[in-house]
Amino acid sequence: MSVPSSAVVPVAAPAVRIRRFGGPEVIELVDVPVRQPGPGQVLVEVRAVGVNPADAKVRQGKRHDGPLAEPIGLGSDAAGVVVALGEGVEAGVGSGGIENAEGLSVGDAVIGRGLSGAYATYITAPAAQFTRAPEGLSFQQGAAIGIPVGTAYQVLASLGLDAGQTLLVHAGAGAVGQAAIQLARARGARVIATASPANHARIRELGGEPVAYGDGLLARLRELAPDGVDRVLDAAGTREALEASLALVSDPAHIGEIVNVEWAAAYGVSAYSGSRPGFLNAEQKALRAEAVPYAARLVVTGQLQLEIADVLPLAEAAEAHRRIDGGHVRGKLVLRP
Ligand SMILES: NC(=O)c1ccc[n+]([C@@H]2O[C@H](COP(=O)([O-])OP(=O)(O)OC[C@H]3O[C@@H](n4cnc5c(N)ncnc54)[C@H](OP(=O)(O)O)[C@@H]3O)[C@@H](O)[C@H]2O)c1
Repeated sequence: MSVPSSAVVPVAAPAVRIRRFGGPEVIELVDVPVRQPGPGQVLVEVRAVGVNPADAKVRQGKRHDGPLAEPIGLGSDAAGVVVALGEGVEAGVGSGGIENAEGLSVGDAVIGRGLSGAYATYITAPAAQFTRAPEGLSFQQGAAIGIPVGTAYQVLASLGLDAGQTLLVHAGAGAVGQAAIQLARARGARVIATASPANHARIRELGGEPVAYGDGLLARLRELAPDGVDRVLDAAGTREALEASLALVSDPAHIGEIVNVEWAAAYGVSAYSGSRPGFLNAEQKALRAEAVPYAARLVVTGQLQLEIADVLPLAEAAEAHRRIDGGHVRGKLVLRP
């Protein structure tokens, strides 16, 4: 990442806001005040923002009861440069490399996760939500880690995927799916992943065995795994994926469901959600956080690929949401403030 030697922080800067829930057209770019960091916070100049399907669900009102009382921002994953420190965030402490937030300095390149309103030019948030980025990581890569890689890492760990086991990943070509295939291969597992035929070569490149979803899915999966599979990560959330998974595992709890979490009660699957309360325990939350520095290190050492689908200006956030709503983005869409 390239870091500026000095930064002049404006009093206001462009950020995305929505005043009501709805389609991508509710997304507006407006000037908002740049908040100075309070105790324990840092002010970060955002260089890249990761667009996640969860952002579209927030935009649609699926993560909120009732109408909006006031405008809100969107986005939780970003990478940027620290431009100001709040009280208690000690400058210069820490030894560089990858570590958690305490001891960030002005000029540090950082990866943020769990942010509120990351579709912005500047963001003020607790220092603990940022990890110093390793040398060699691009801002785009940094913005592509938080939700998708954190989720894949946590789900595989929570399901206890071991070397020699077979993992089935539904929606293997998406950001979560691509991370899950690579992390599972690194654990020594065999991976079967569903994707549309156009993405099968990509699944193979990552070390997975591709299978087309759609009619006949279970029969195709049985051909590859006649004795069933050991674990499933369902990032598709379709009935078809659920039914095939239930038919292939010995215990429904071996299915990690991240889309339709209400299926946990109905079918006994293991459901995990970072955006809905009650679906991650403290250990699972910690796994999502520890995934960020871990994944950043894997990226710079060439052991984890983060495919960037496209980079759009922040002003085109609505276009990014149109693409995400289409459901077939391959890799990570990134916004550039
Ligand atoms: N619970 C959580 O904490 C959590 C965290 C992260 C993500 N999620 C959810 O997990 C889902 C995936 O997230 P993502 O970031 O990976 O999304 P993404 O990058 O937008 O990828 C979506 C992928 O879904 C595939 N797909 C579309 N229809 C499919 C079908 N019927 N069967 C199988 N695959 C299909 C597409 O591949 P093809 O083009 O090959 O069809 C596309 O690559 C989203 O619903 C997201 O909200 C939940």
